[in-house]
Amino acid sequence: VQLSSKVRELQRYADAERAAGRRIALVPTMGALHAGHLALVDAGRARAERVIVSIFVNPTQFNNPGDLATYPRTLEADLEACRGRGVDVVFAPEASEMYPPGEQTRVEVDALAKPLCGASRPGHFRGVTTVVAKLFLAARPHFAIFGQKDFQQLAVVRRMARDLLFDLEVVGVPTVREPDGLALSSRNLRLTPESRRQALALSRALAAAERELAAGERRADRVLRAAHAELEKSPLLRVDYAELRDPETLALASDVLTGPALFALAAFLPAREPGQEVRLIDNRVLDPAAAGRPGEEDRP
Ligand code: PAF
Repeated sequence: VQLSSKVRELQRYADAERAAGRRIALVPTMGALHAGHLALVDAGRARAERVIVSIFVNPTQFNNPGDLATYPRTLEADLEACRGRGVDVVFAPEASEMYPPGEQTRVEVDALAKPLCGASRPGHFRGVTTVVAKLFLAARPHFAIFGQKDFQQLAVVRRMARDLLFDLEVVGVPTVREPDGLALSSRNLRLTPESRRQALALSRALAAAERELAAGERRADRVLRAAHAELEKSPLLRVDYAELRDPETLALASDVLTGPALFALAAFLPAREPGQEVRLIDNRVLDPAAAGRPGEEDRP
């Protein structure tokens, strides 16, 4: 694996690969790579001859300085993981390389970036779309691979890529989970053993909502109530949001679910660092059509 820290160098590499007729997949990450990231790498490998992984803890997307300071940084282990997975280039720039001195430009998506994480982390998506646009311009990929765990990020980045006329395909990859159901996240490293246990309430709440739907329930408030009942079993967990939304527009779902609905969750749990919290997210698209029609069991 080649390590690069300069934008110009990466652009020259990408141009040469493109000129040779090879396709490029970019996997943007902030490092602390886990099996979820490696699934993104595999999705890139399946589509392209060259895979570039960027590792950059992007300061402009952190609305909380404590979160930025404690974000895990494990470059040596990350390089090793990339080597083992056939990554061609790891791009790990300094902040001054991505944000030149005196910089004052931001990329901002409007309505899709407003609810959910956009509401609870002001400025977050503005930082994400700004750095992702820069990474697209640096790596010149044919494919850009993102995890579905960050459902809203995927939607916002897709919109940005279309709106800014980027000539690439944004690919979403299903969430990778621990055997007990917890969605993989670099932030899981910061949980105490007890908050790690209680974090399971997130995936359990998603499953509870799914069960309600499978039992024929279509009222959004009832589905949410079943999810909250799961969340309340974890007293250390503090819910940030638990919402049903349209998976395309992210507008609030209607009172009665007729089409697919995104169930998106975010919650805080105590961190290893005393007095600090870890914020975890998870989601699931609930599909009433796949869950069986309401009242079906009443029919002869
Ligand atoms: O999902 C992430 O790790 C980050 O938001 C991303 C896409 C790498 C942008 O910094």
